[in-house]
Amino acid sequence: MNQRQRGVVLTDLGWERLESAIAAAQETEKYGKRFTQAELEERAGISRKTIKKIRQRTAPVDETSVHALFTAFRLELETADYGLPNSIAIEQQETGNGDRESQHHLQAEQATSLHPVETNGGSDRHETLASQSTRPRGVPFQVPPLPYYFVERPEHQNAVKQILLDTPKHPGTLVVSAICGLGGIGKSVLAVKIAHDPEVLSRFCDGVLWATLGQQPDILAFLSSWIQALGDHSYKPITPTAASAHLRTLLADKHMLLVVDDVWHPEHADLFRVGSSDCCVLITTREARIPQAEGYSLDVMSPDQALELITNMLSTPLSEAEQAQARKFAKRVGYLPLALELTASQIADGVIWTELLEDFQAEVAHLETLDLYSADDIIEDAQRRKYSLTACFRLSLKQLSPEQLQQFAWLGVVPEDVTLTQEMA
Ligand SMILES: Nc1ncnc2c1ncn2[C@@H]1O[C@H](COP(=O)(O)OP(=O)(O)OP(=O)(O)O)[C@@H](O)[C@H]1O
Ligand SMILES: [Mg+2]
Repeated sequence: MNQRQRGVVLTDLGWERLESAIAAAQETEKYGKRFTQAELEERAGISRKTIKKIRQRTAPVDETSVHALFTAFRLELETADYGLPNSIAIEQQETGNGDRESQHHLQAEQATSLHPVETNGGSDRHETLASQSTRPRGVPFQVPPLPYYFVERPEHQNAVKQILLDTPKHPGTLVVSAICGLGGIGKSVLAVKIAHDPEVLSRFCDGVLWATLGQQPDILAFLSSWIQALGDHSYKPITPTAASAHLRTLLADKHMLLVVDDVWHPEHADLFRVGSSDCCVLITTREARIPQAEGYSLDVMSPDQALELITNMLSTPLSEAEQAQARKFAKRVGYLPLALELTASQIADGVIWTELLEDFQAEVAHLETLDLYSADDIIEDAQRRKYSLTACFRLSLKQLSPEQLQQFAWLGVVPEDVTLTQEMA
């Protein structure tokens, strides 16, 4: 399935060796402070995007770059440190170790989230470890990791969890729940958080399957990967309908959570509605309506959560004045997590708040003169949000990962004079 991908991905062992070496260097050279992206770039002599890919293990990277990063931290790259994406995905399925490596990233080449490479003592790390310890070996767990800067959103987490854990309103039927909302609002991250929740894991004790569909999903490939994850390596379906029917049989006596992430067209999710009433399907979508699903509409972050996201992404605490600026900026970008993440990565890269605010305002003013989104059907609020996001996008252009570029393209905020070329990625 991954024949198109070239390059290698770190194994658990390689990832742990690299992260320990980076942590040790930070301890001795920076008194525990994190290396900035620019410092890492300079040290390893490879781009920050490549470094990010290696550490997040979201996509294959050429072996020479992996070697350069290891060498920069005085590590000898050994064959056990890396492998081909296919073999690593299979190895994880067999060892039940898929939580450390998001298999769906490898399968669908569509990274959404970050590996918790640099924990800040936040609860996400503990939560992930807690969910690991409650999972028996060999149970499929295809859930991506939470970003290291994860911010709890208890009001939403509890509400969606309740939908999944409640007894079905119509006994004997499969519960389908859909998290809906704007692009970049945090739907996928919320689904990841829920899928790591110990109560959810004990209810769905046979595991969690995950598929990130996107605009043009290869539905047969996703369904086939689920069949394999359930241990059936001999059945080779040739149509999505056959695969779906076979999954129904395999799941008949199972208690599993099936996550169908990033659904663009409601009908794409139909063939994933498999499983008995002891299973649940959790969909994330920008679409407001998914038929026969209990919808949950996700809103933007609260001002405090927005500040926490920015703070978590930075290695040093914010002064009171900086906090005030961060709050102002968060308000300006409409408390949208994706825009907040981009803002914080600019600051982490050394841009100062006043400069960022000025650049941002200039960008928005420029966009307004271009009148990019003047279509009659765009209401003022949505238009303002689009300008904010486009401005964030433009200010962060150089440091965006291919996945983020794609996400922005899908959000429709990539201005016409920006082309999504491979060089940018
Ligand atoms: N609770 C959170 N804590 C920290 N960061 C978050 C949180 N929620 C979202 N983010 C950040 O915001 C970005 C967008 O979130 P996410 O990918 O979940 O959005 P989405 O609603 O699924 O978007 P899309 O419709 O494009 O799939 C992520 O890259 C993530 O880093
Ligand atoms: Mg998403």
